[in-house]
Amino acid sequence: MKQLAPSILSADFSRLGADVAAIEAGGADVIHVDVMDGHFVPNISFGATVMKSLVGKTALPFDVHLMIEDPDKYAAEFVTPQTEFITVHQEACRHLHRSVQHIKSIGVKAGVSINPATPVHTLDCILGDVDLVLIMSVNPGFGGQKLISSALDKIAELVKVREERGLSFVIEIDGGITLDNVKAIADAGVDIIVAGSAVFGKEDIAEETRKFKDILK
Ligand code: DX5
Ligand code: ZN
Repeated sequence: MKQLAPSILSADFSRLGADVAAIEAGGADVIHVDVMDGHFVPNISFGATVMKSLVGKTALPFDVHLMIEDPDKYAAEFVTPQTEFITVHQEACRHLHRSVQHIKSIGVKAGVSINPATPVHTLDCILGDVDLVLIMSVNPGFGGQKLISSALDKIAELVKVREERGLSFVIEIDGGITLDNVKAIADAGVDIIVAGSAVFGKEDIAEETRKFKDILK
């Protein structure tokens, strides 16, 4: 069963609890938490305090996507009883293996992400250590961008490598996913689909979530 992870980057922060309740009512599986530092990406979003305000207000797990330099310094701040994954960028980690081990050592699952211009094979030596691989289908930094279709080839490549090597990491895609393209993306073999503006940008957030879930059934 494919999972839907709405990104709260596109939520209305003045009513974050209500927006999250709406995605939960609509059947969302995970909350995708986009953390941006204005250095690794050209935008600043929010930090751990905002995410922690949701602890206990929703039953959904957190999927933290750190688009930040030096993630080793901040990862522990994002550990809560609801944090399932913390994902770092390959491009932001000088010692990726160390960063992945650090995330595991603080009690959560570890993910690694690659930007659109970074090939899948750059992860060859870390795939055996990670719980999740996040393929960016836009250049990270902003919601509401158009999907870069080469991400689908990367998904297919990862599915193949995972099988050949007998690994079990989950595959996630993030950026530019809409009701129009989500079917093709699901068919490519992805496990978790992130959607921001296509879920939160609509009048009835619960209904929009339900539409995604129906397609993913
Ligand atoms: C991009 C973020 C995404 C983004 C997705 O930098 O990592 O999670 O919020 O937003 P949409 O679905 O609007 O492309
Ligand atoms: Zn993200």
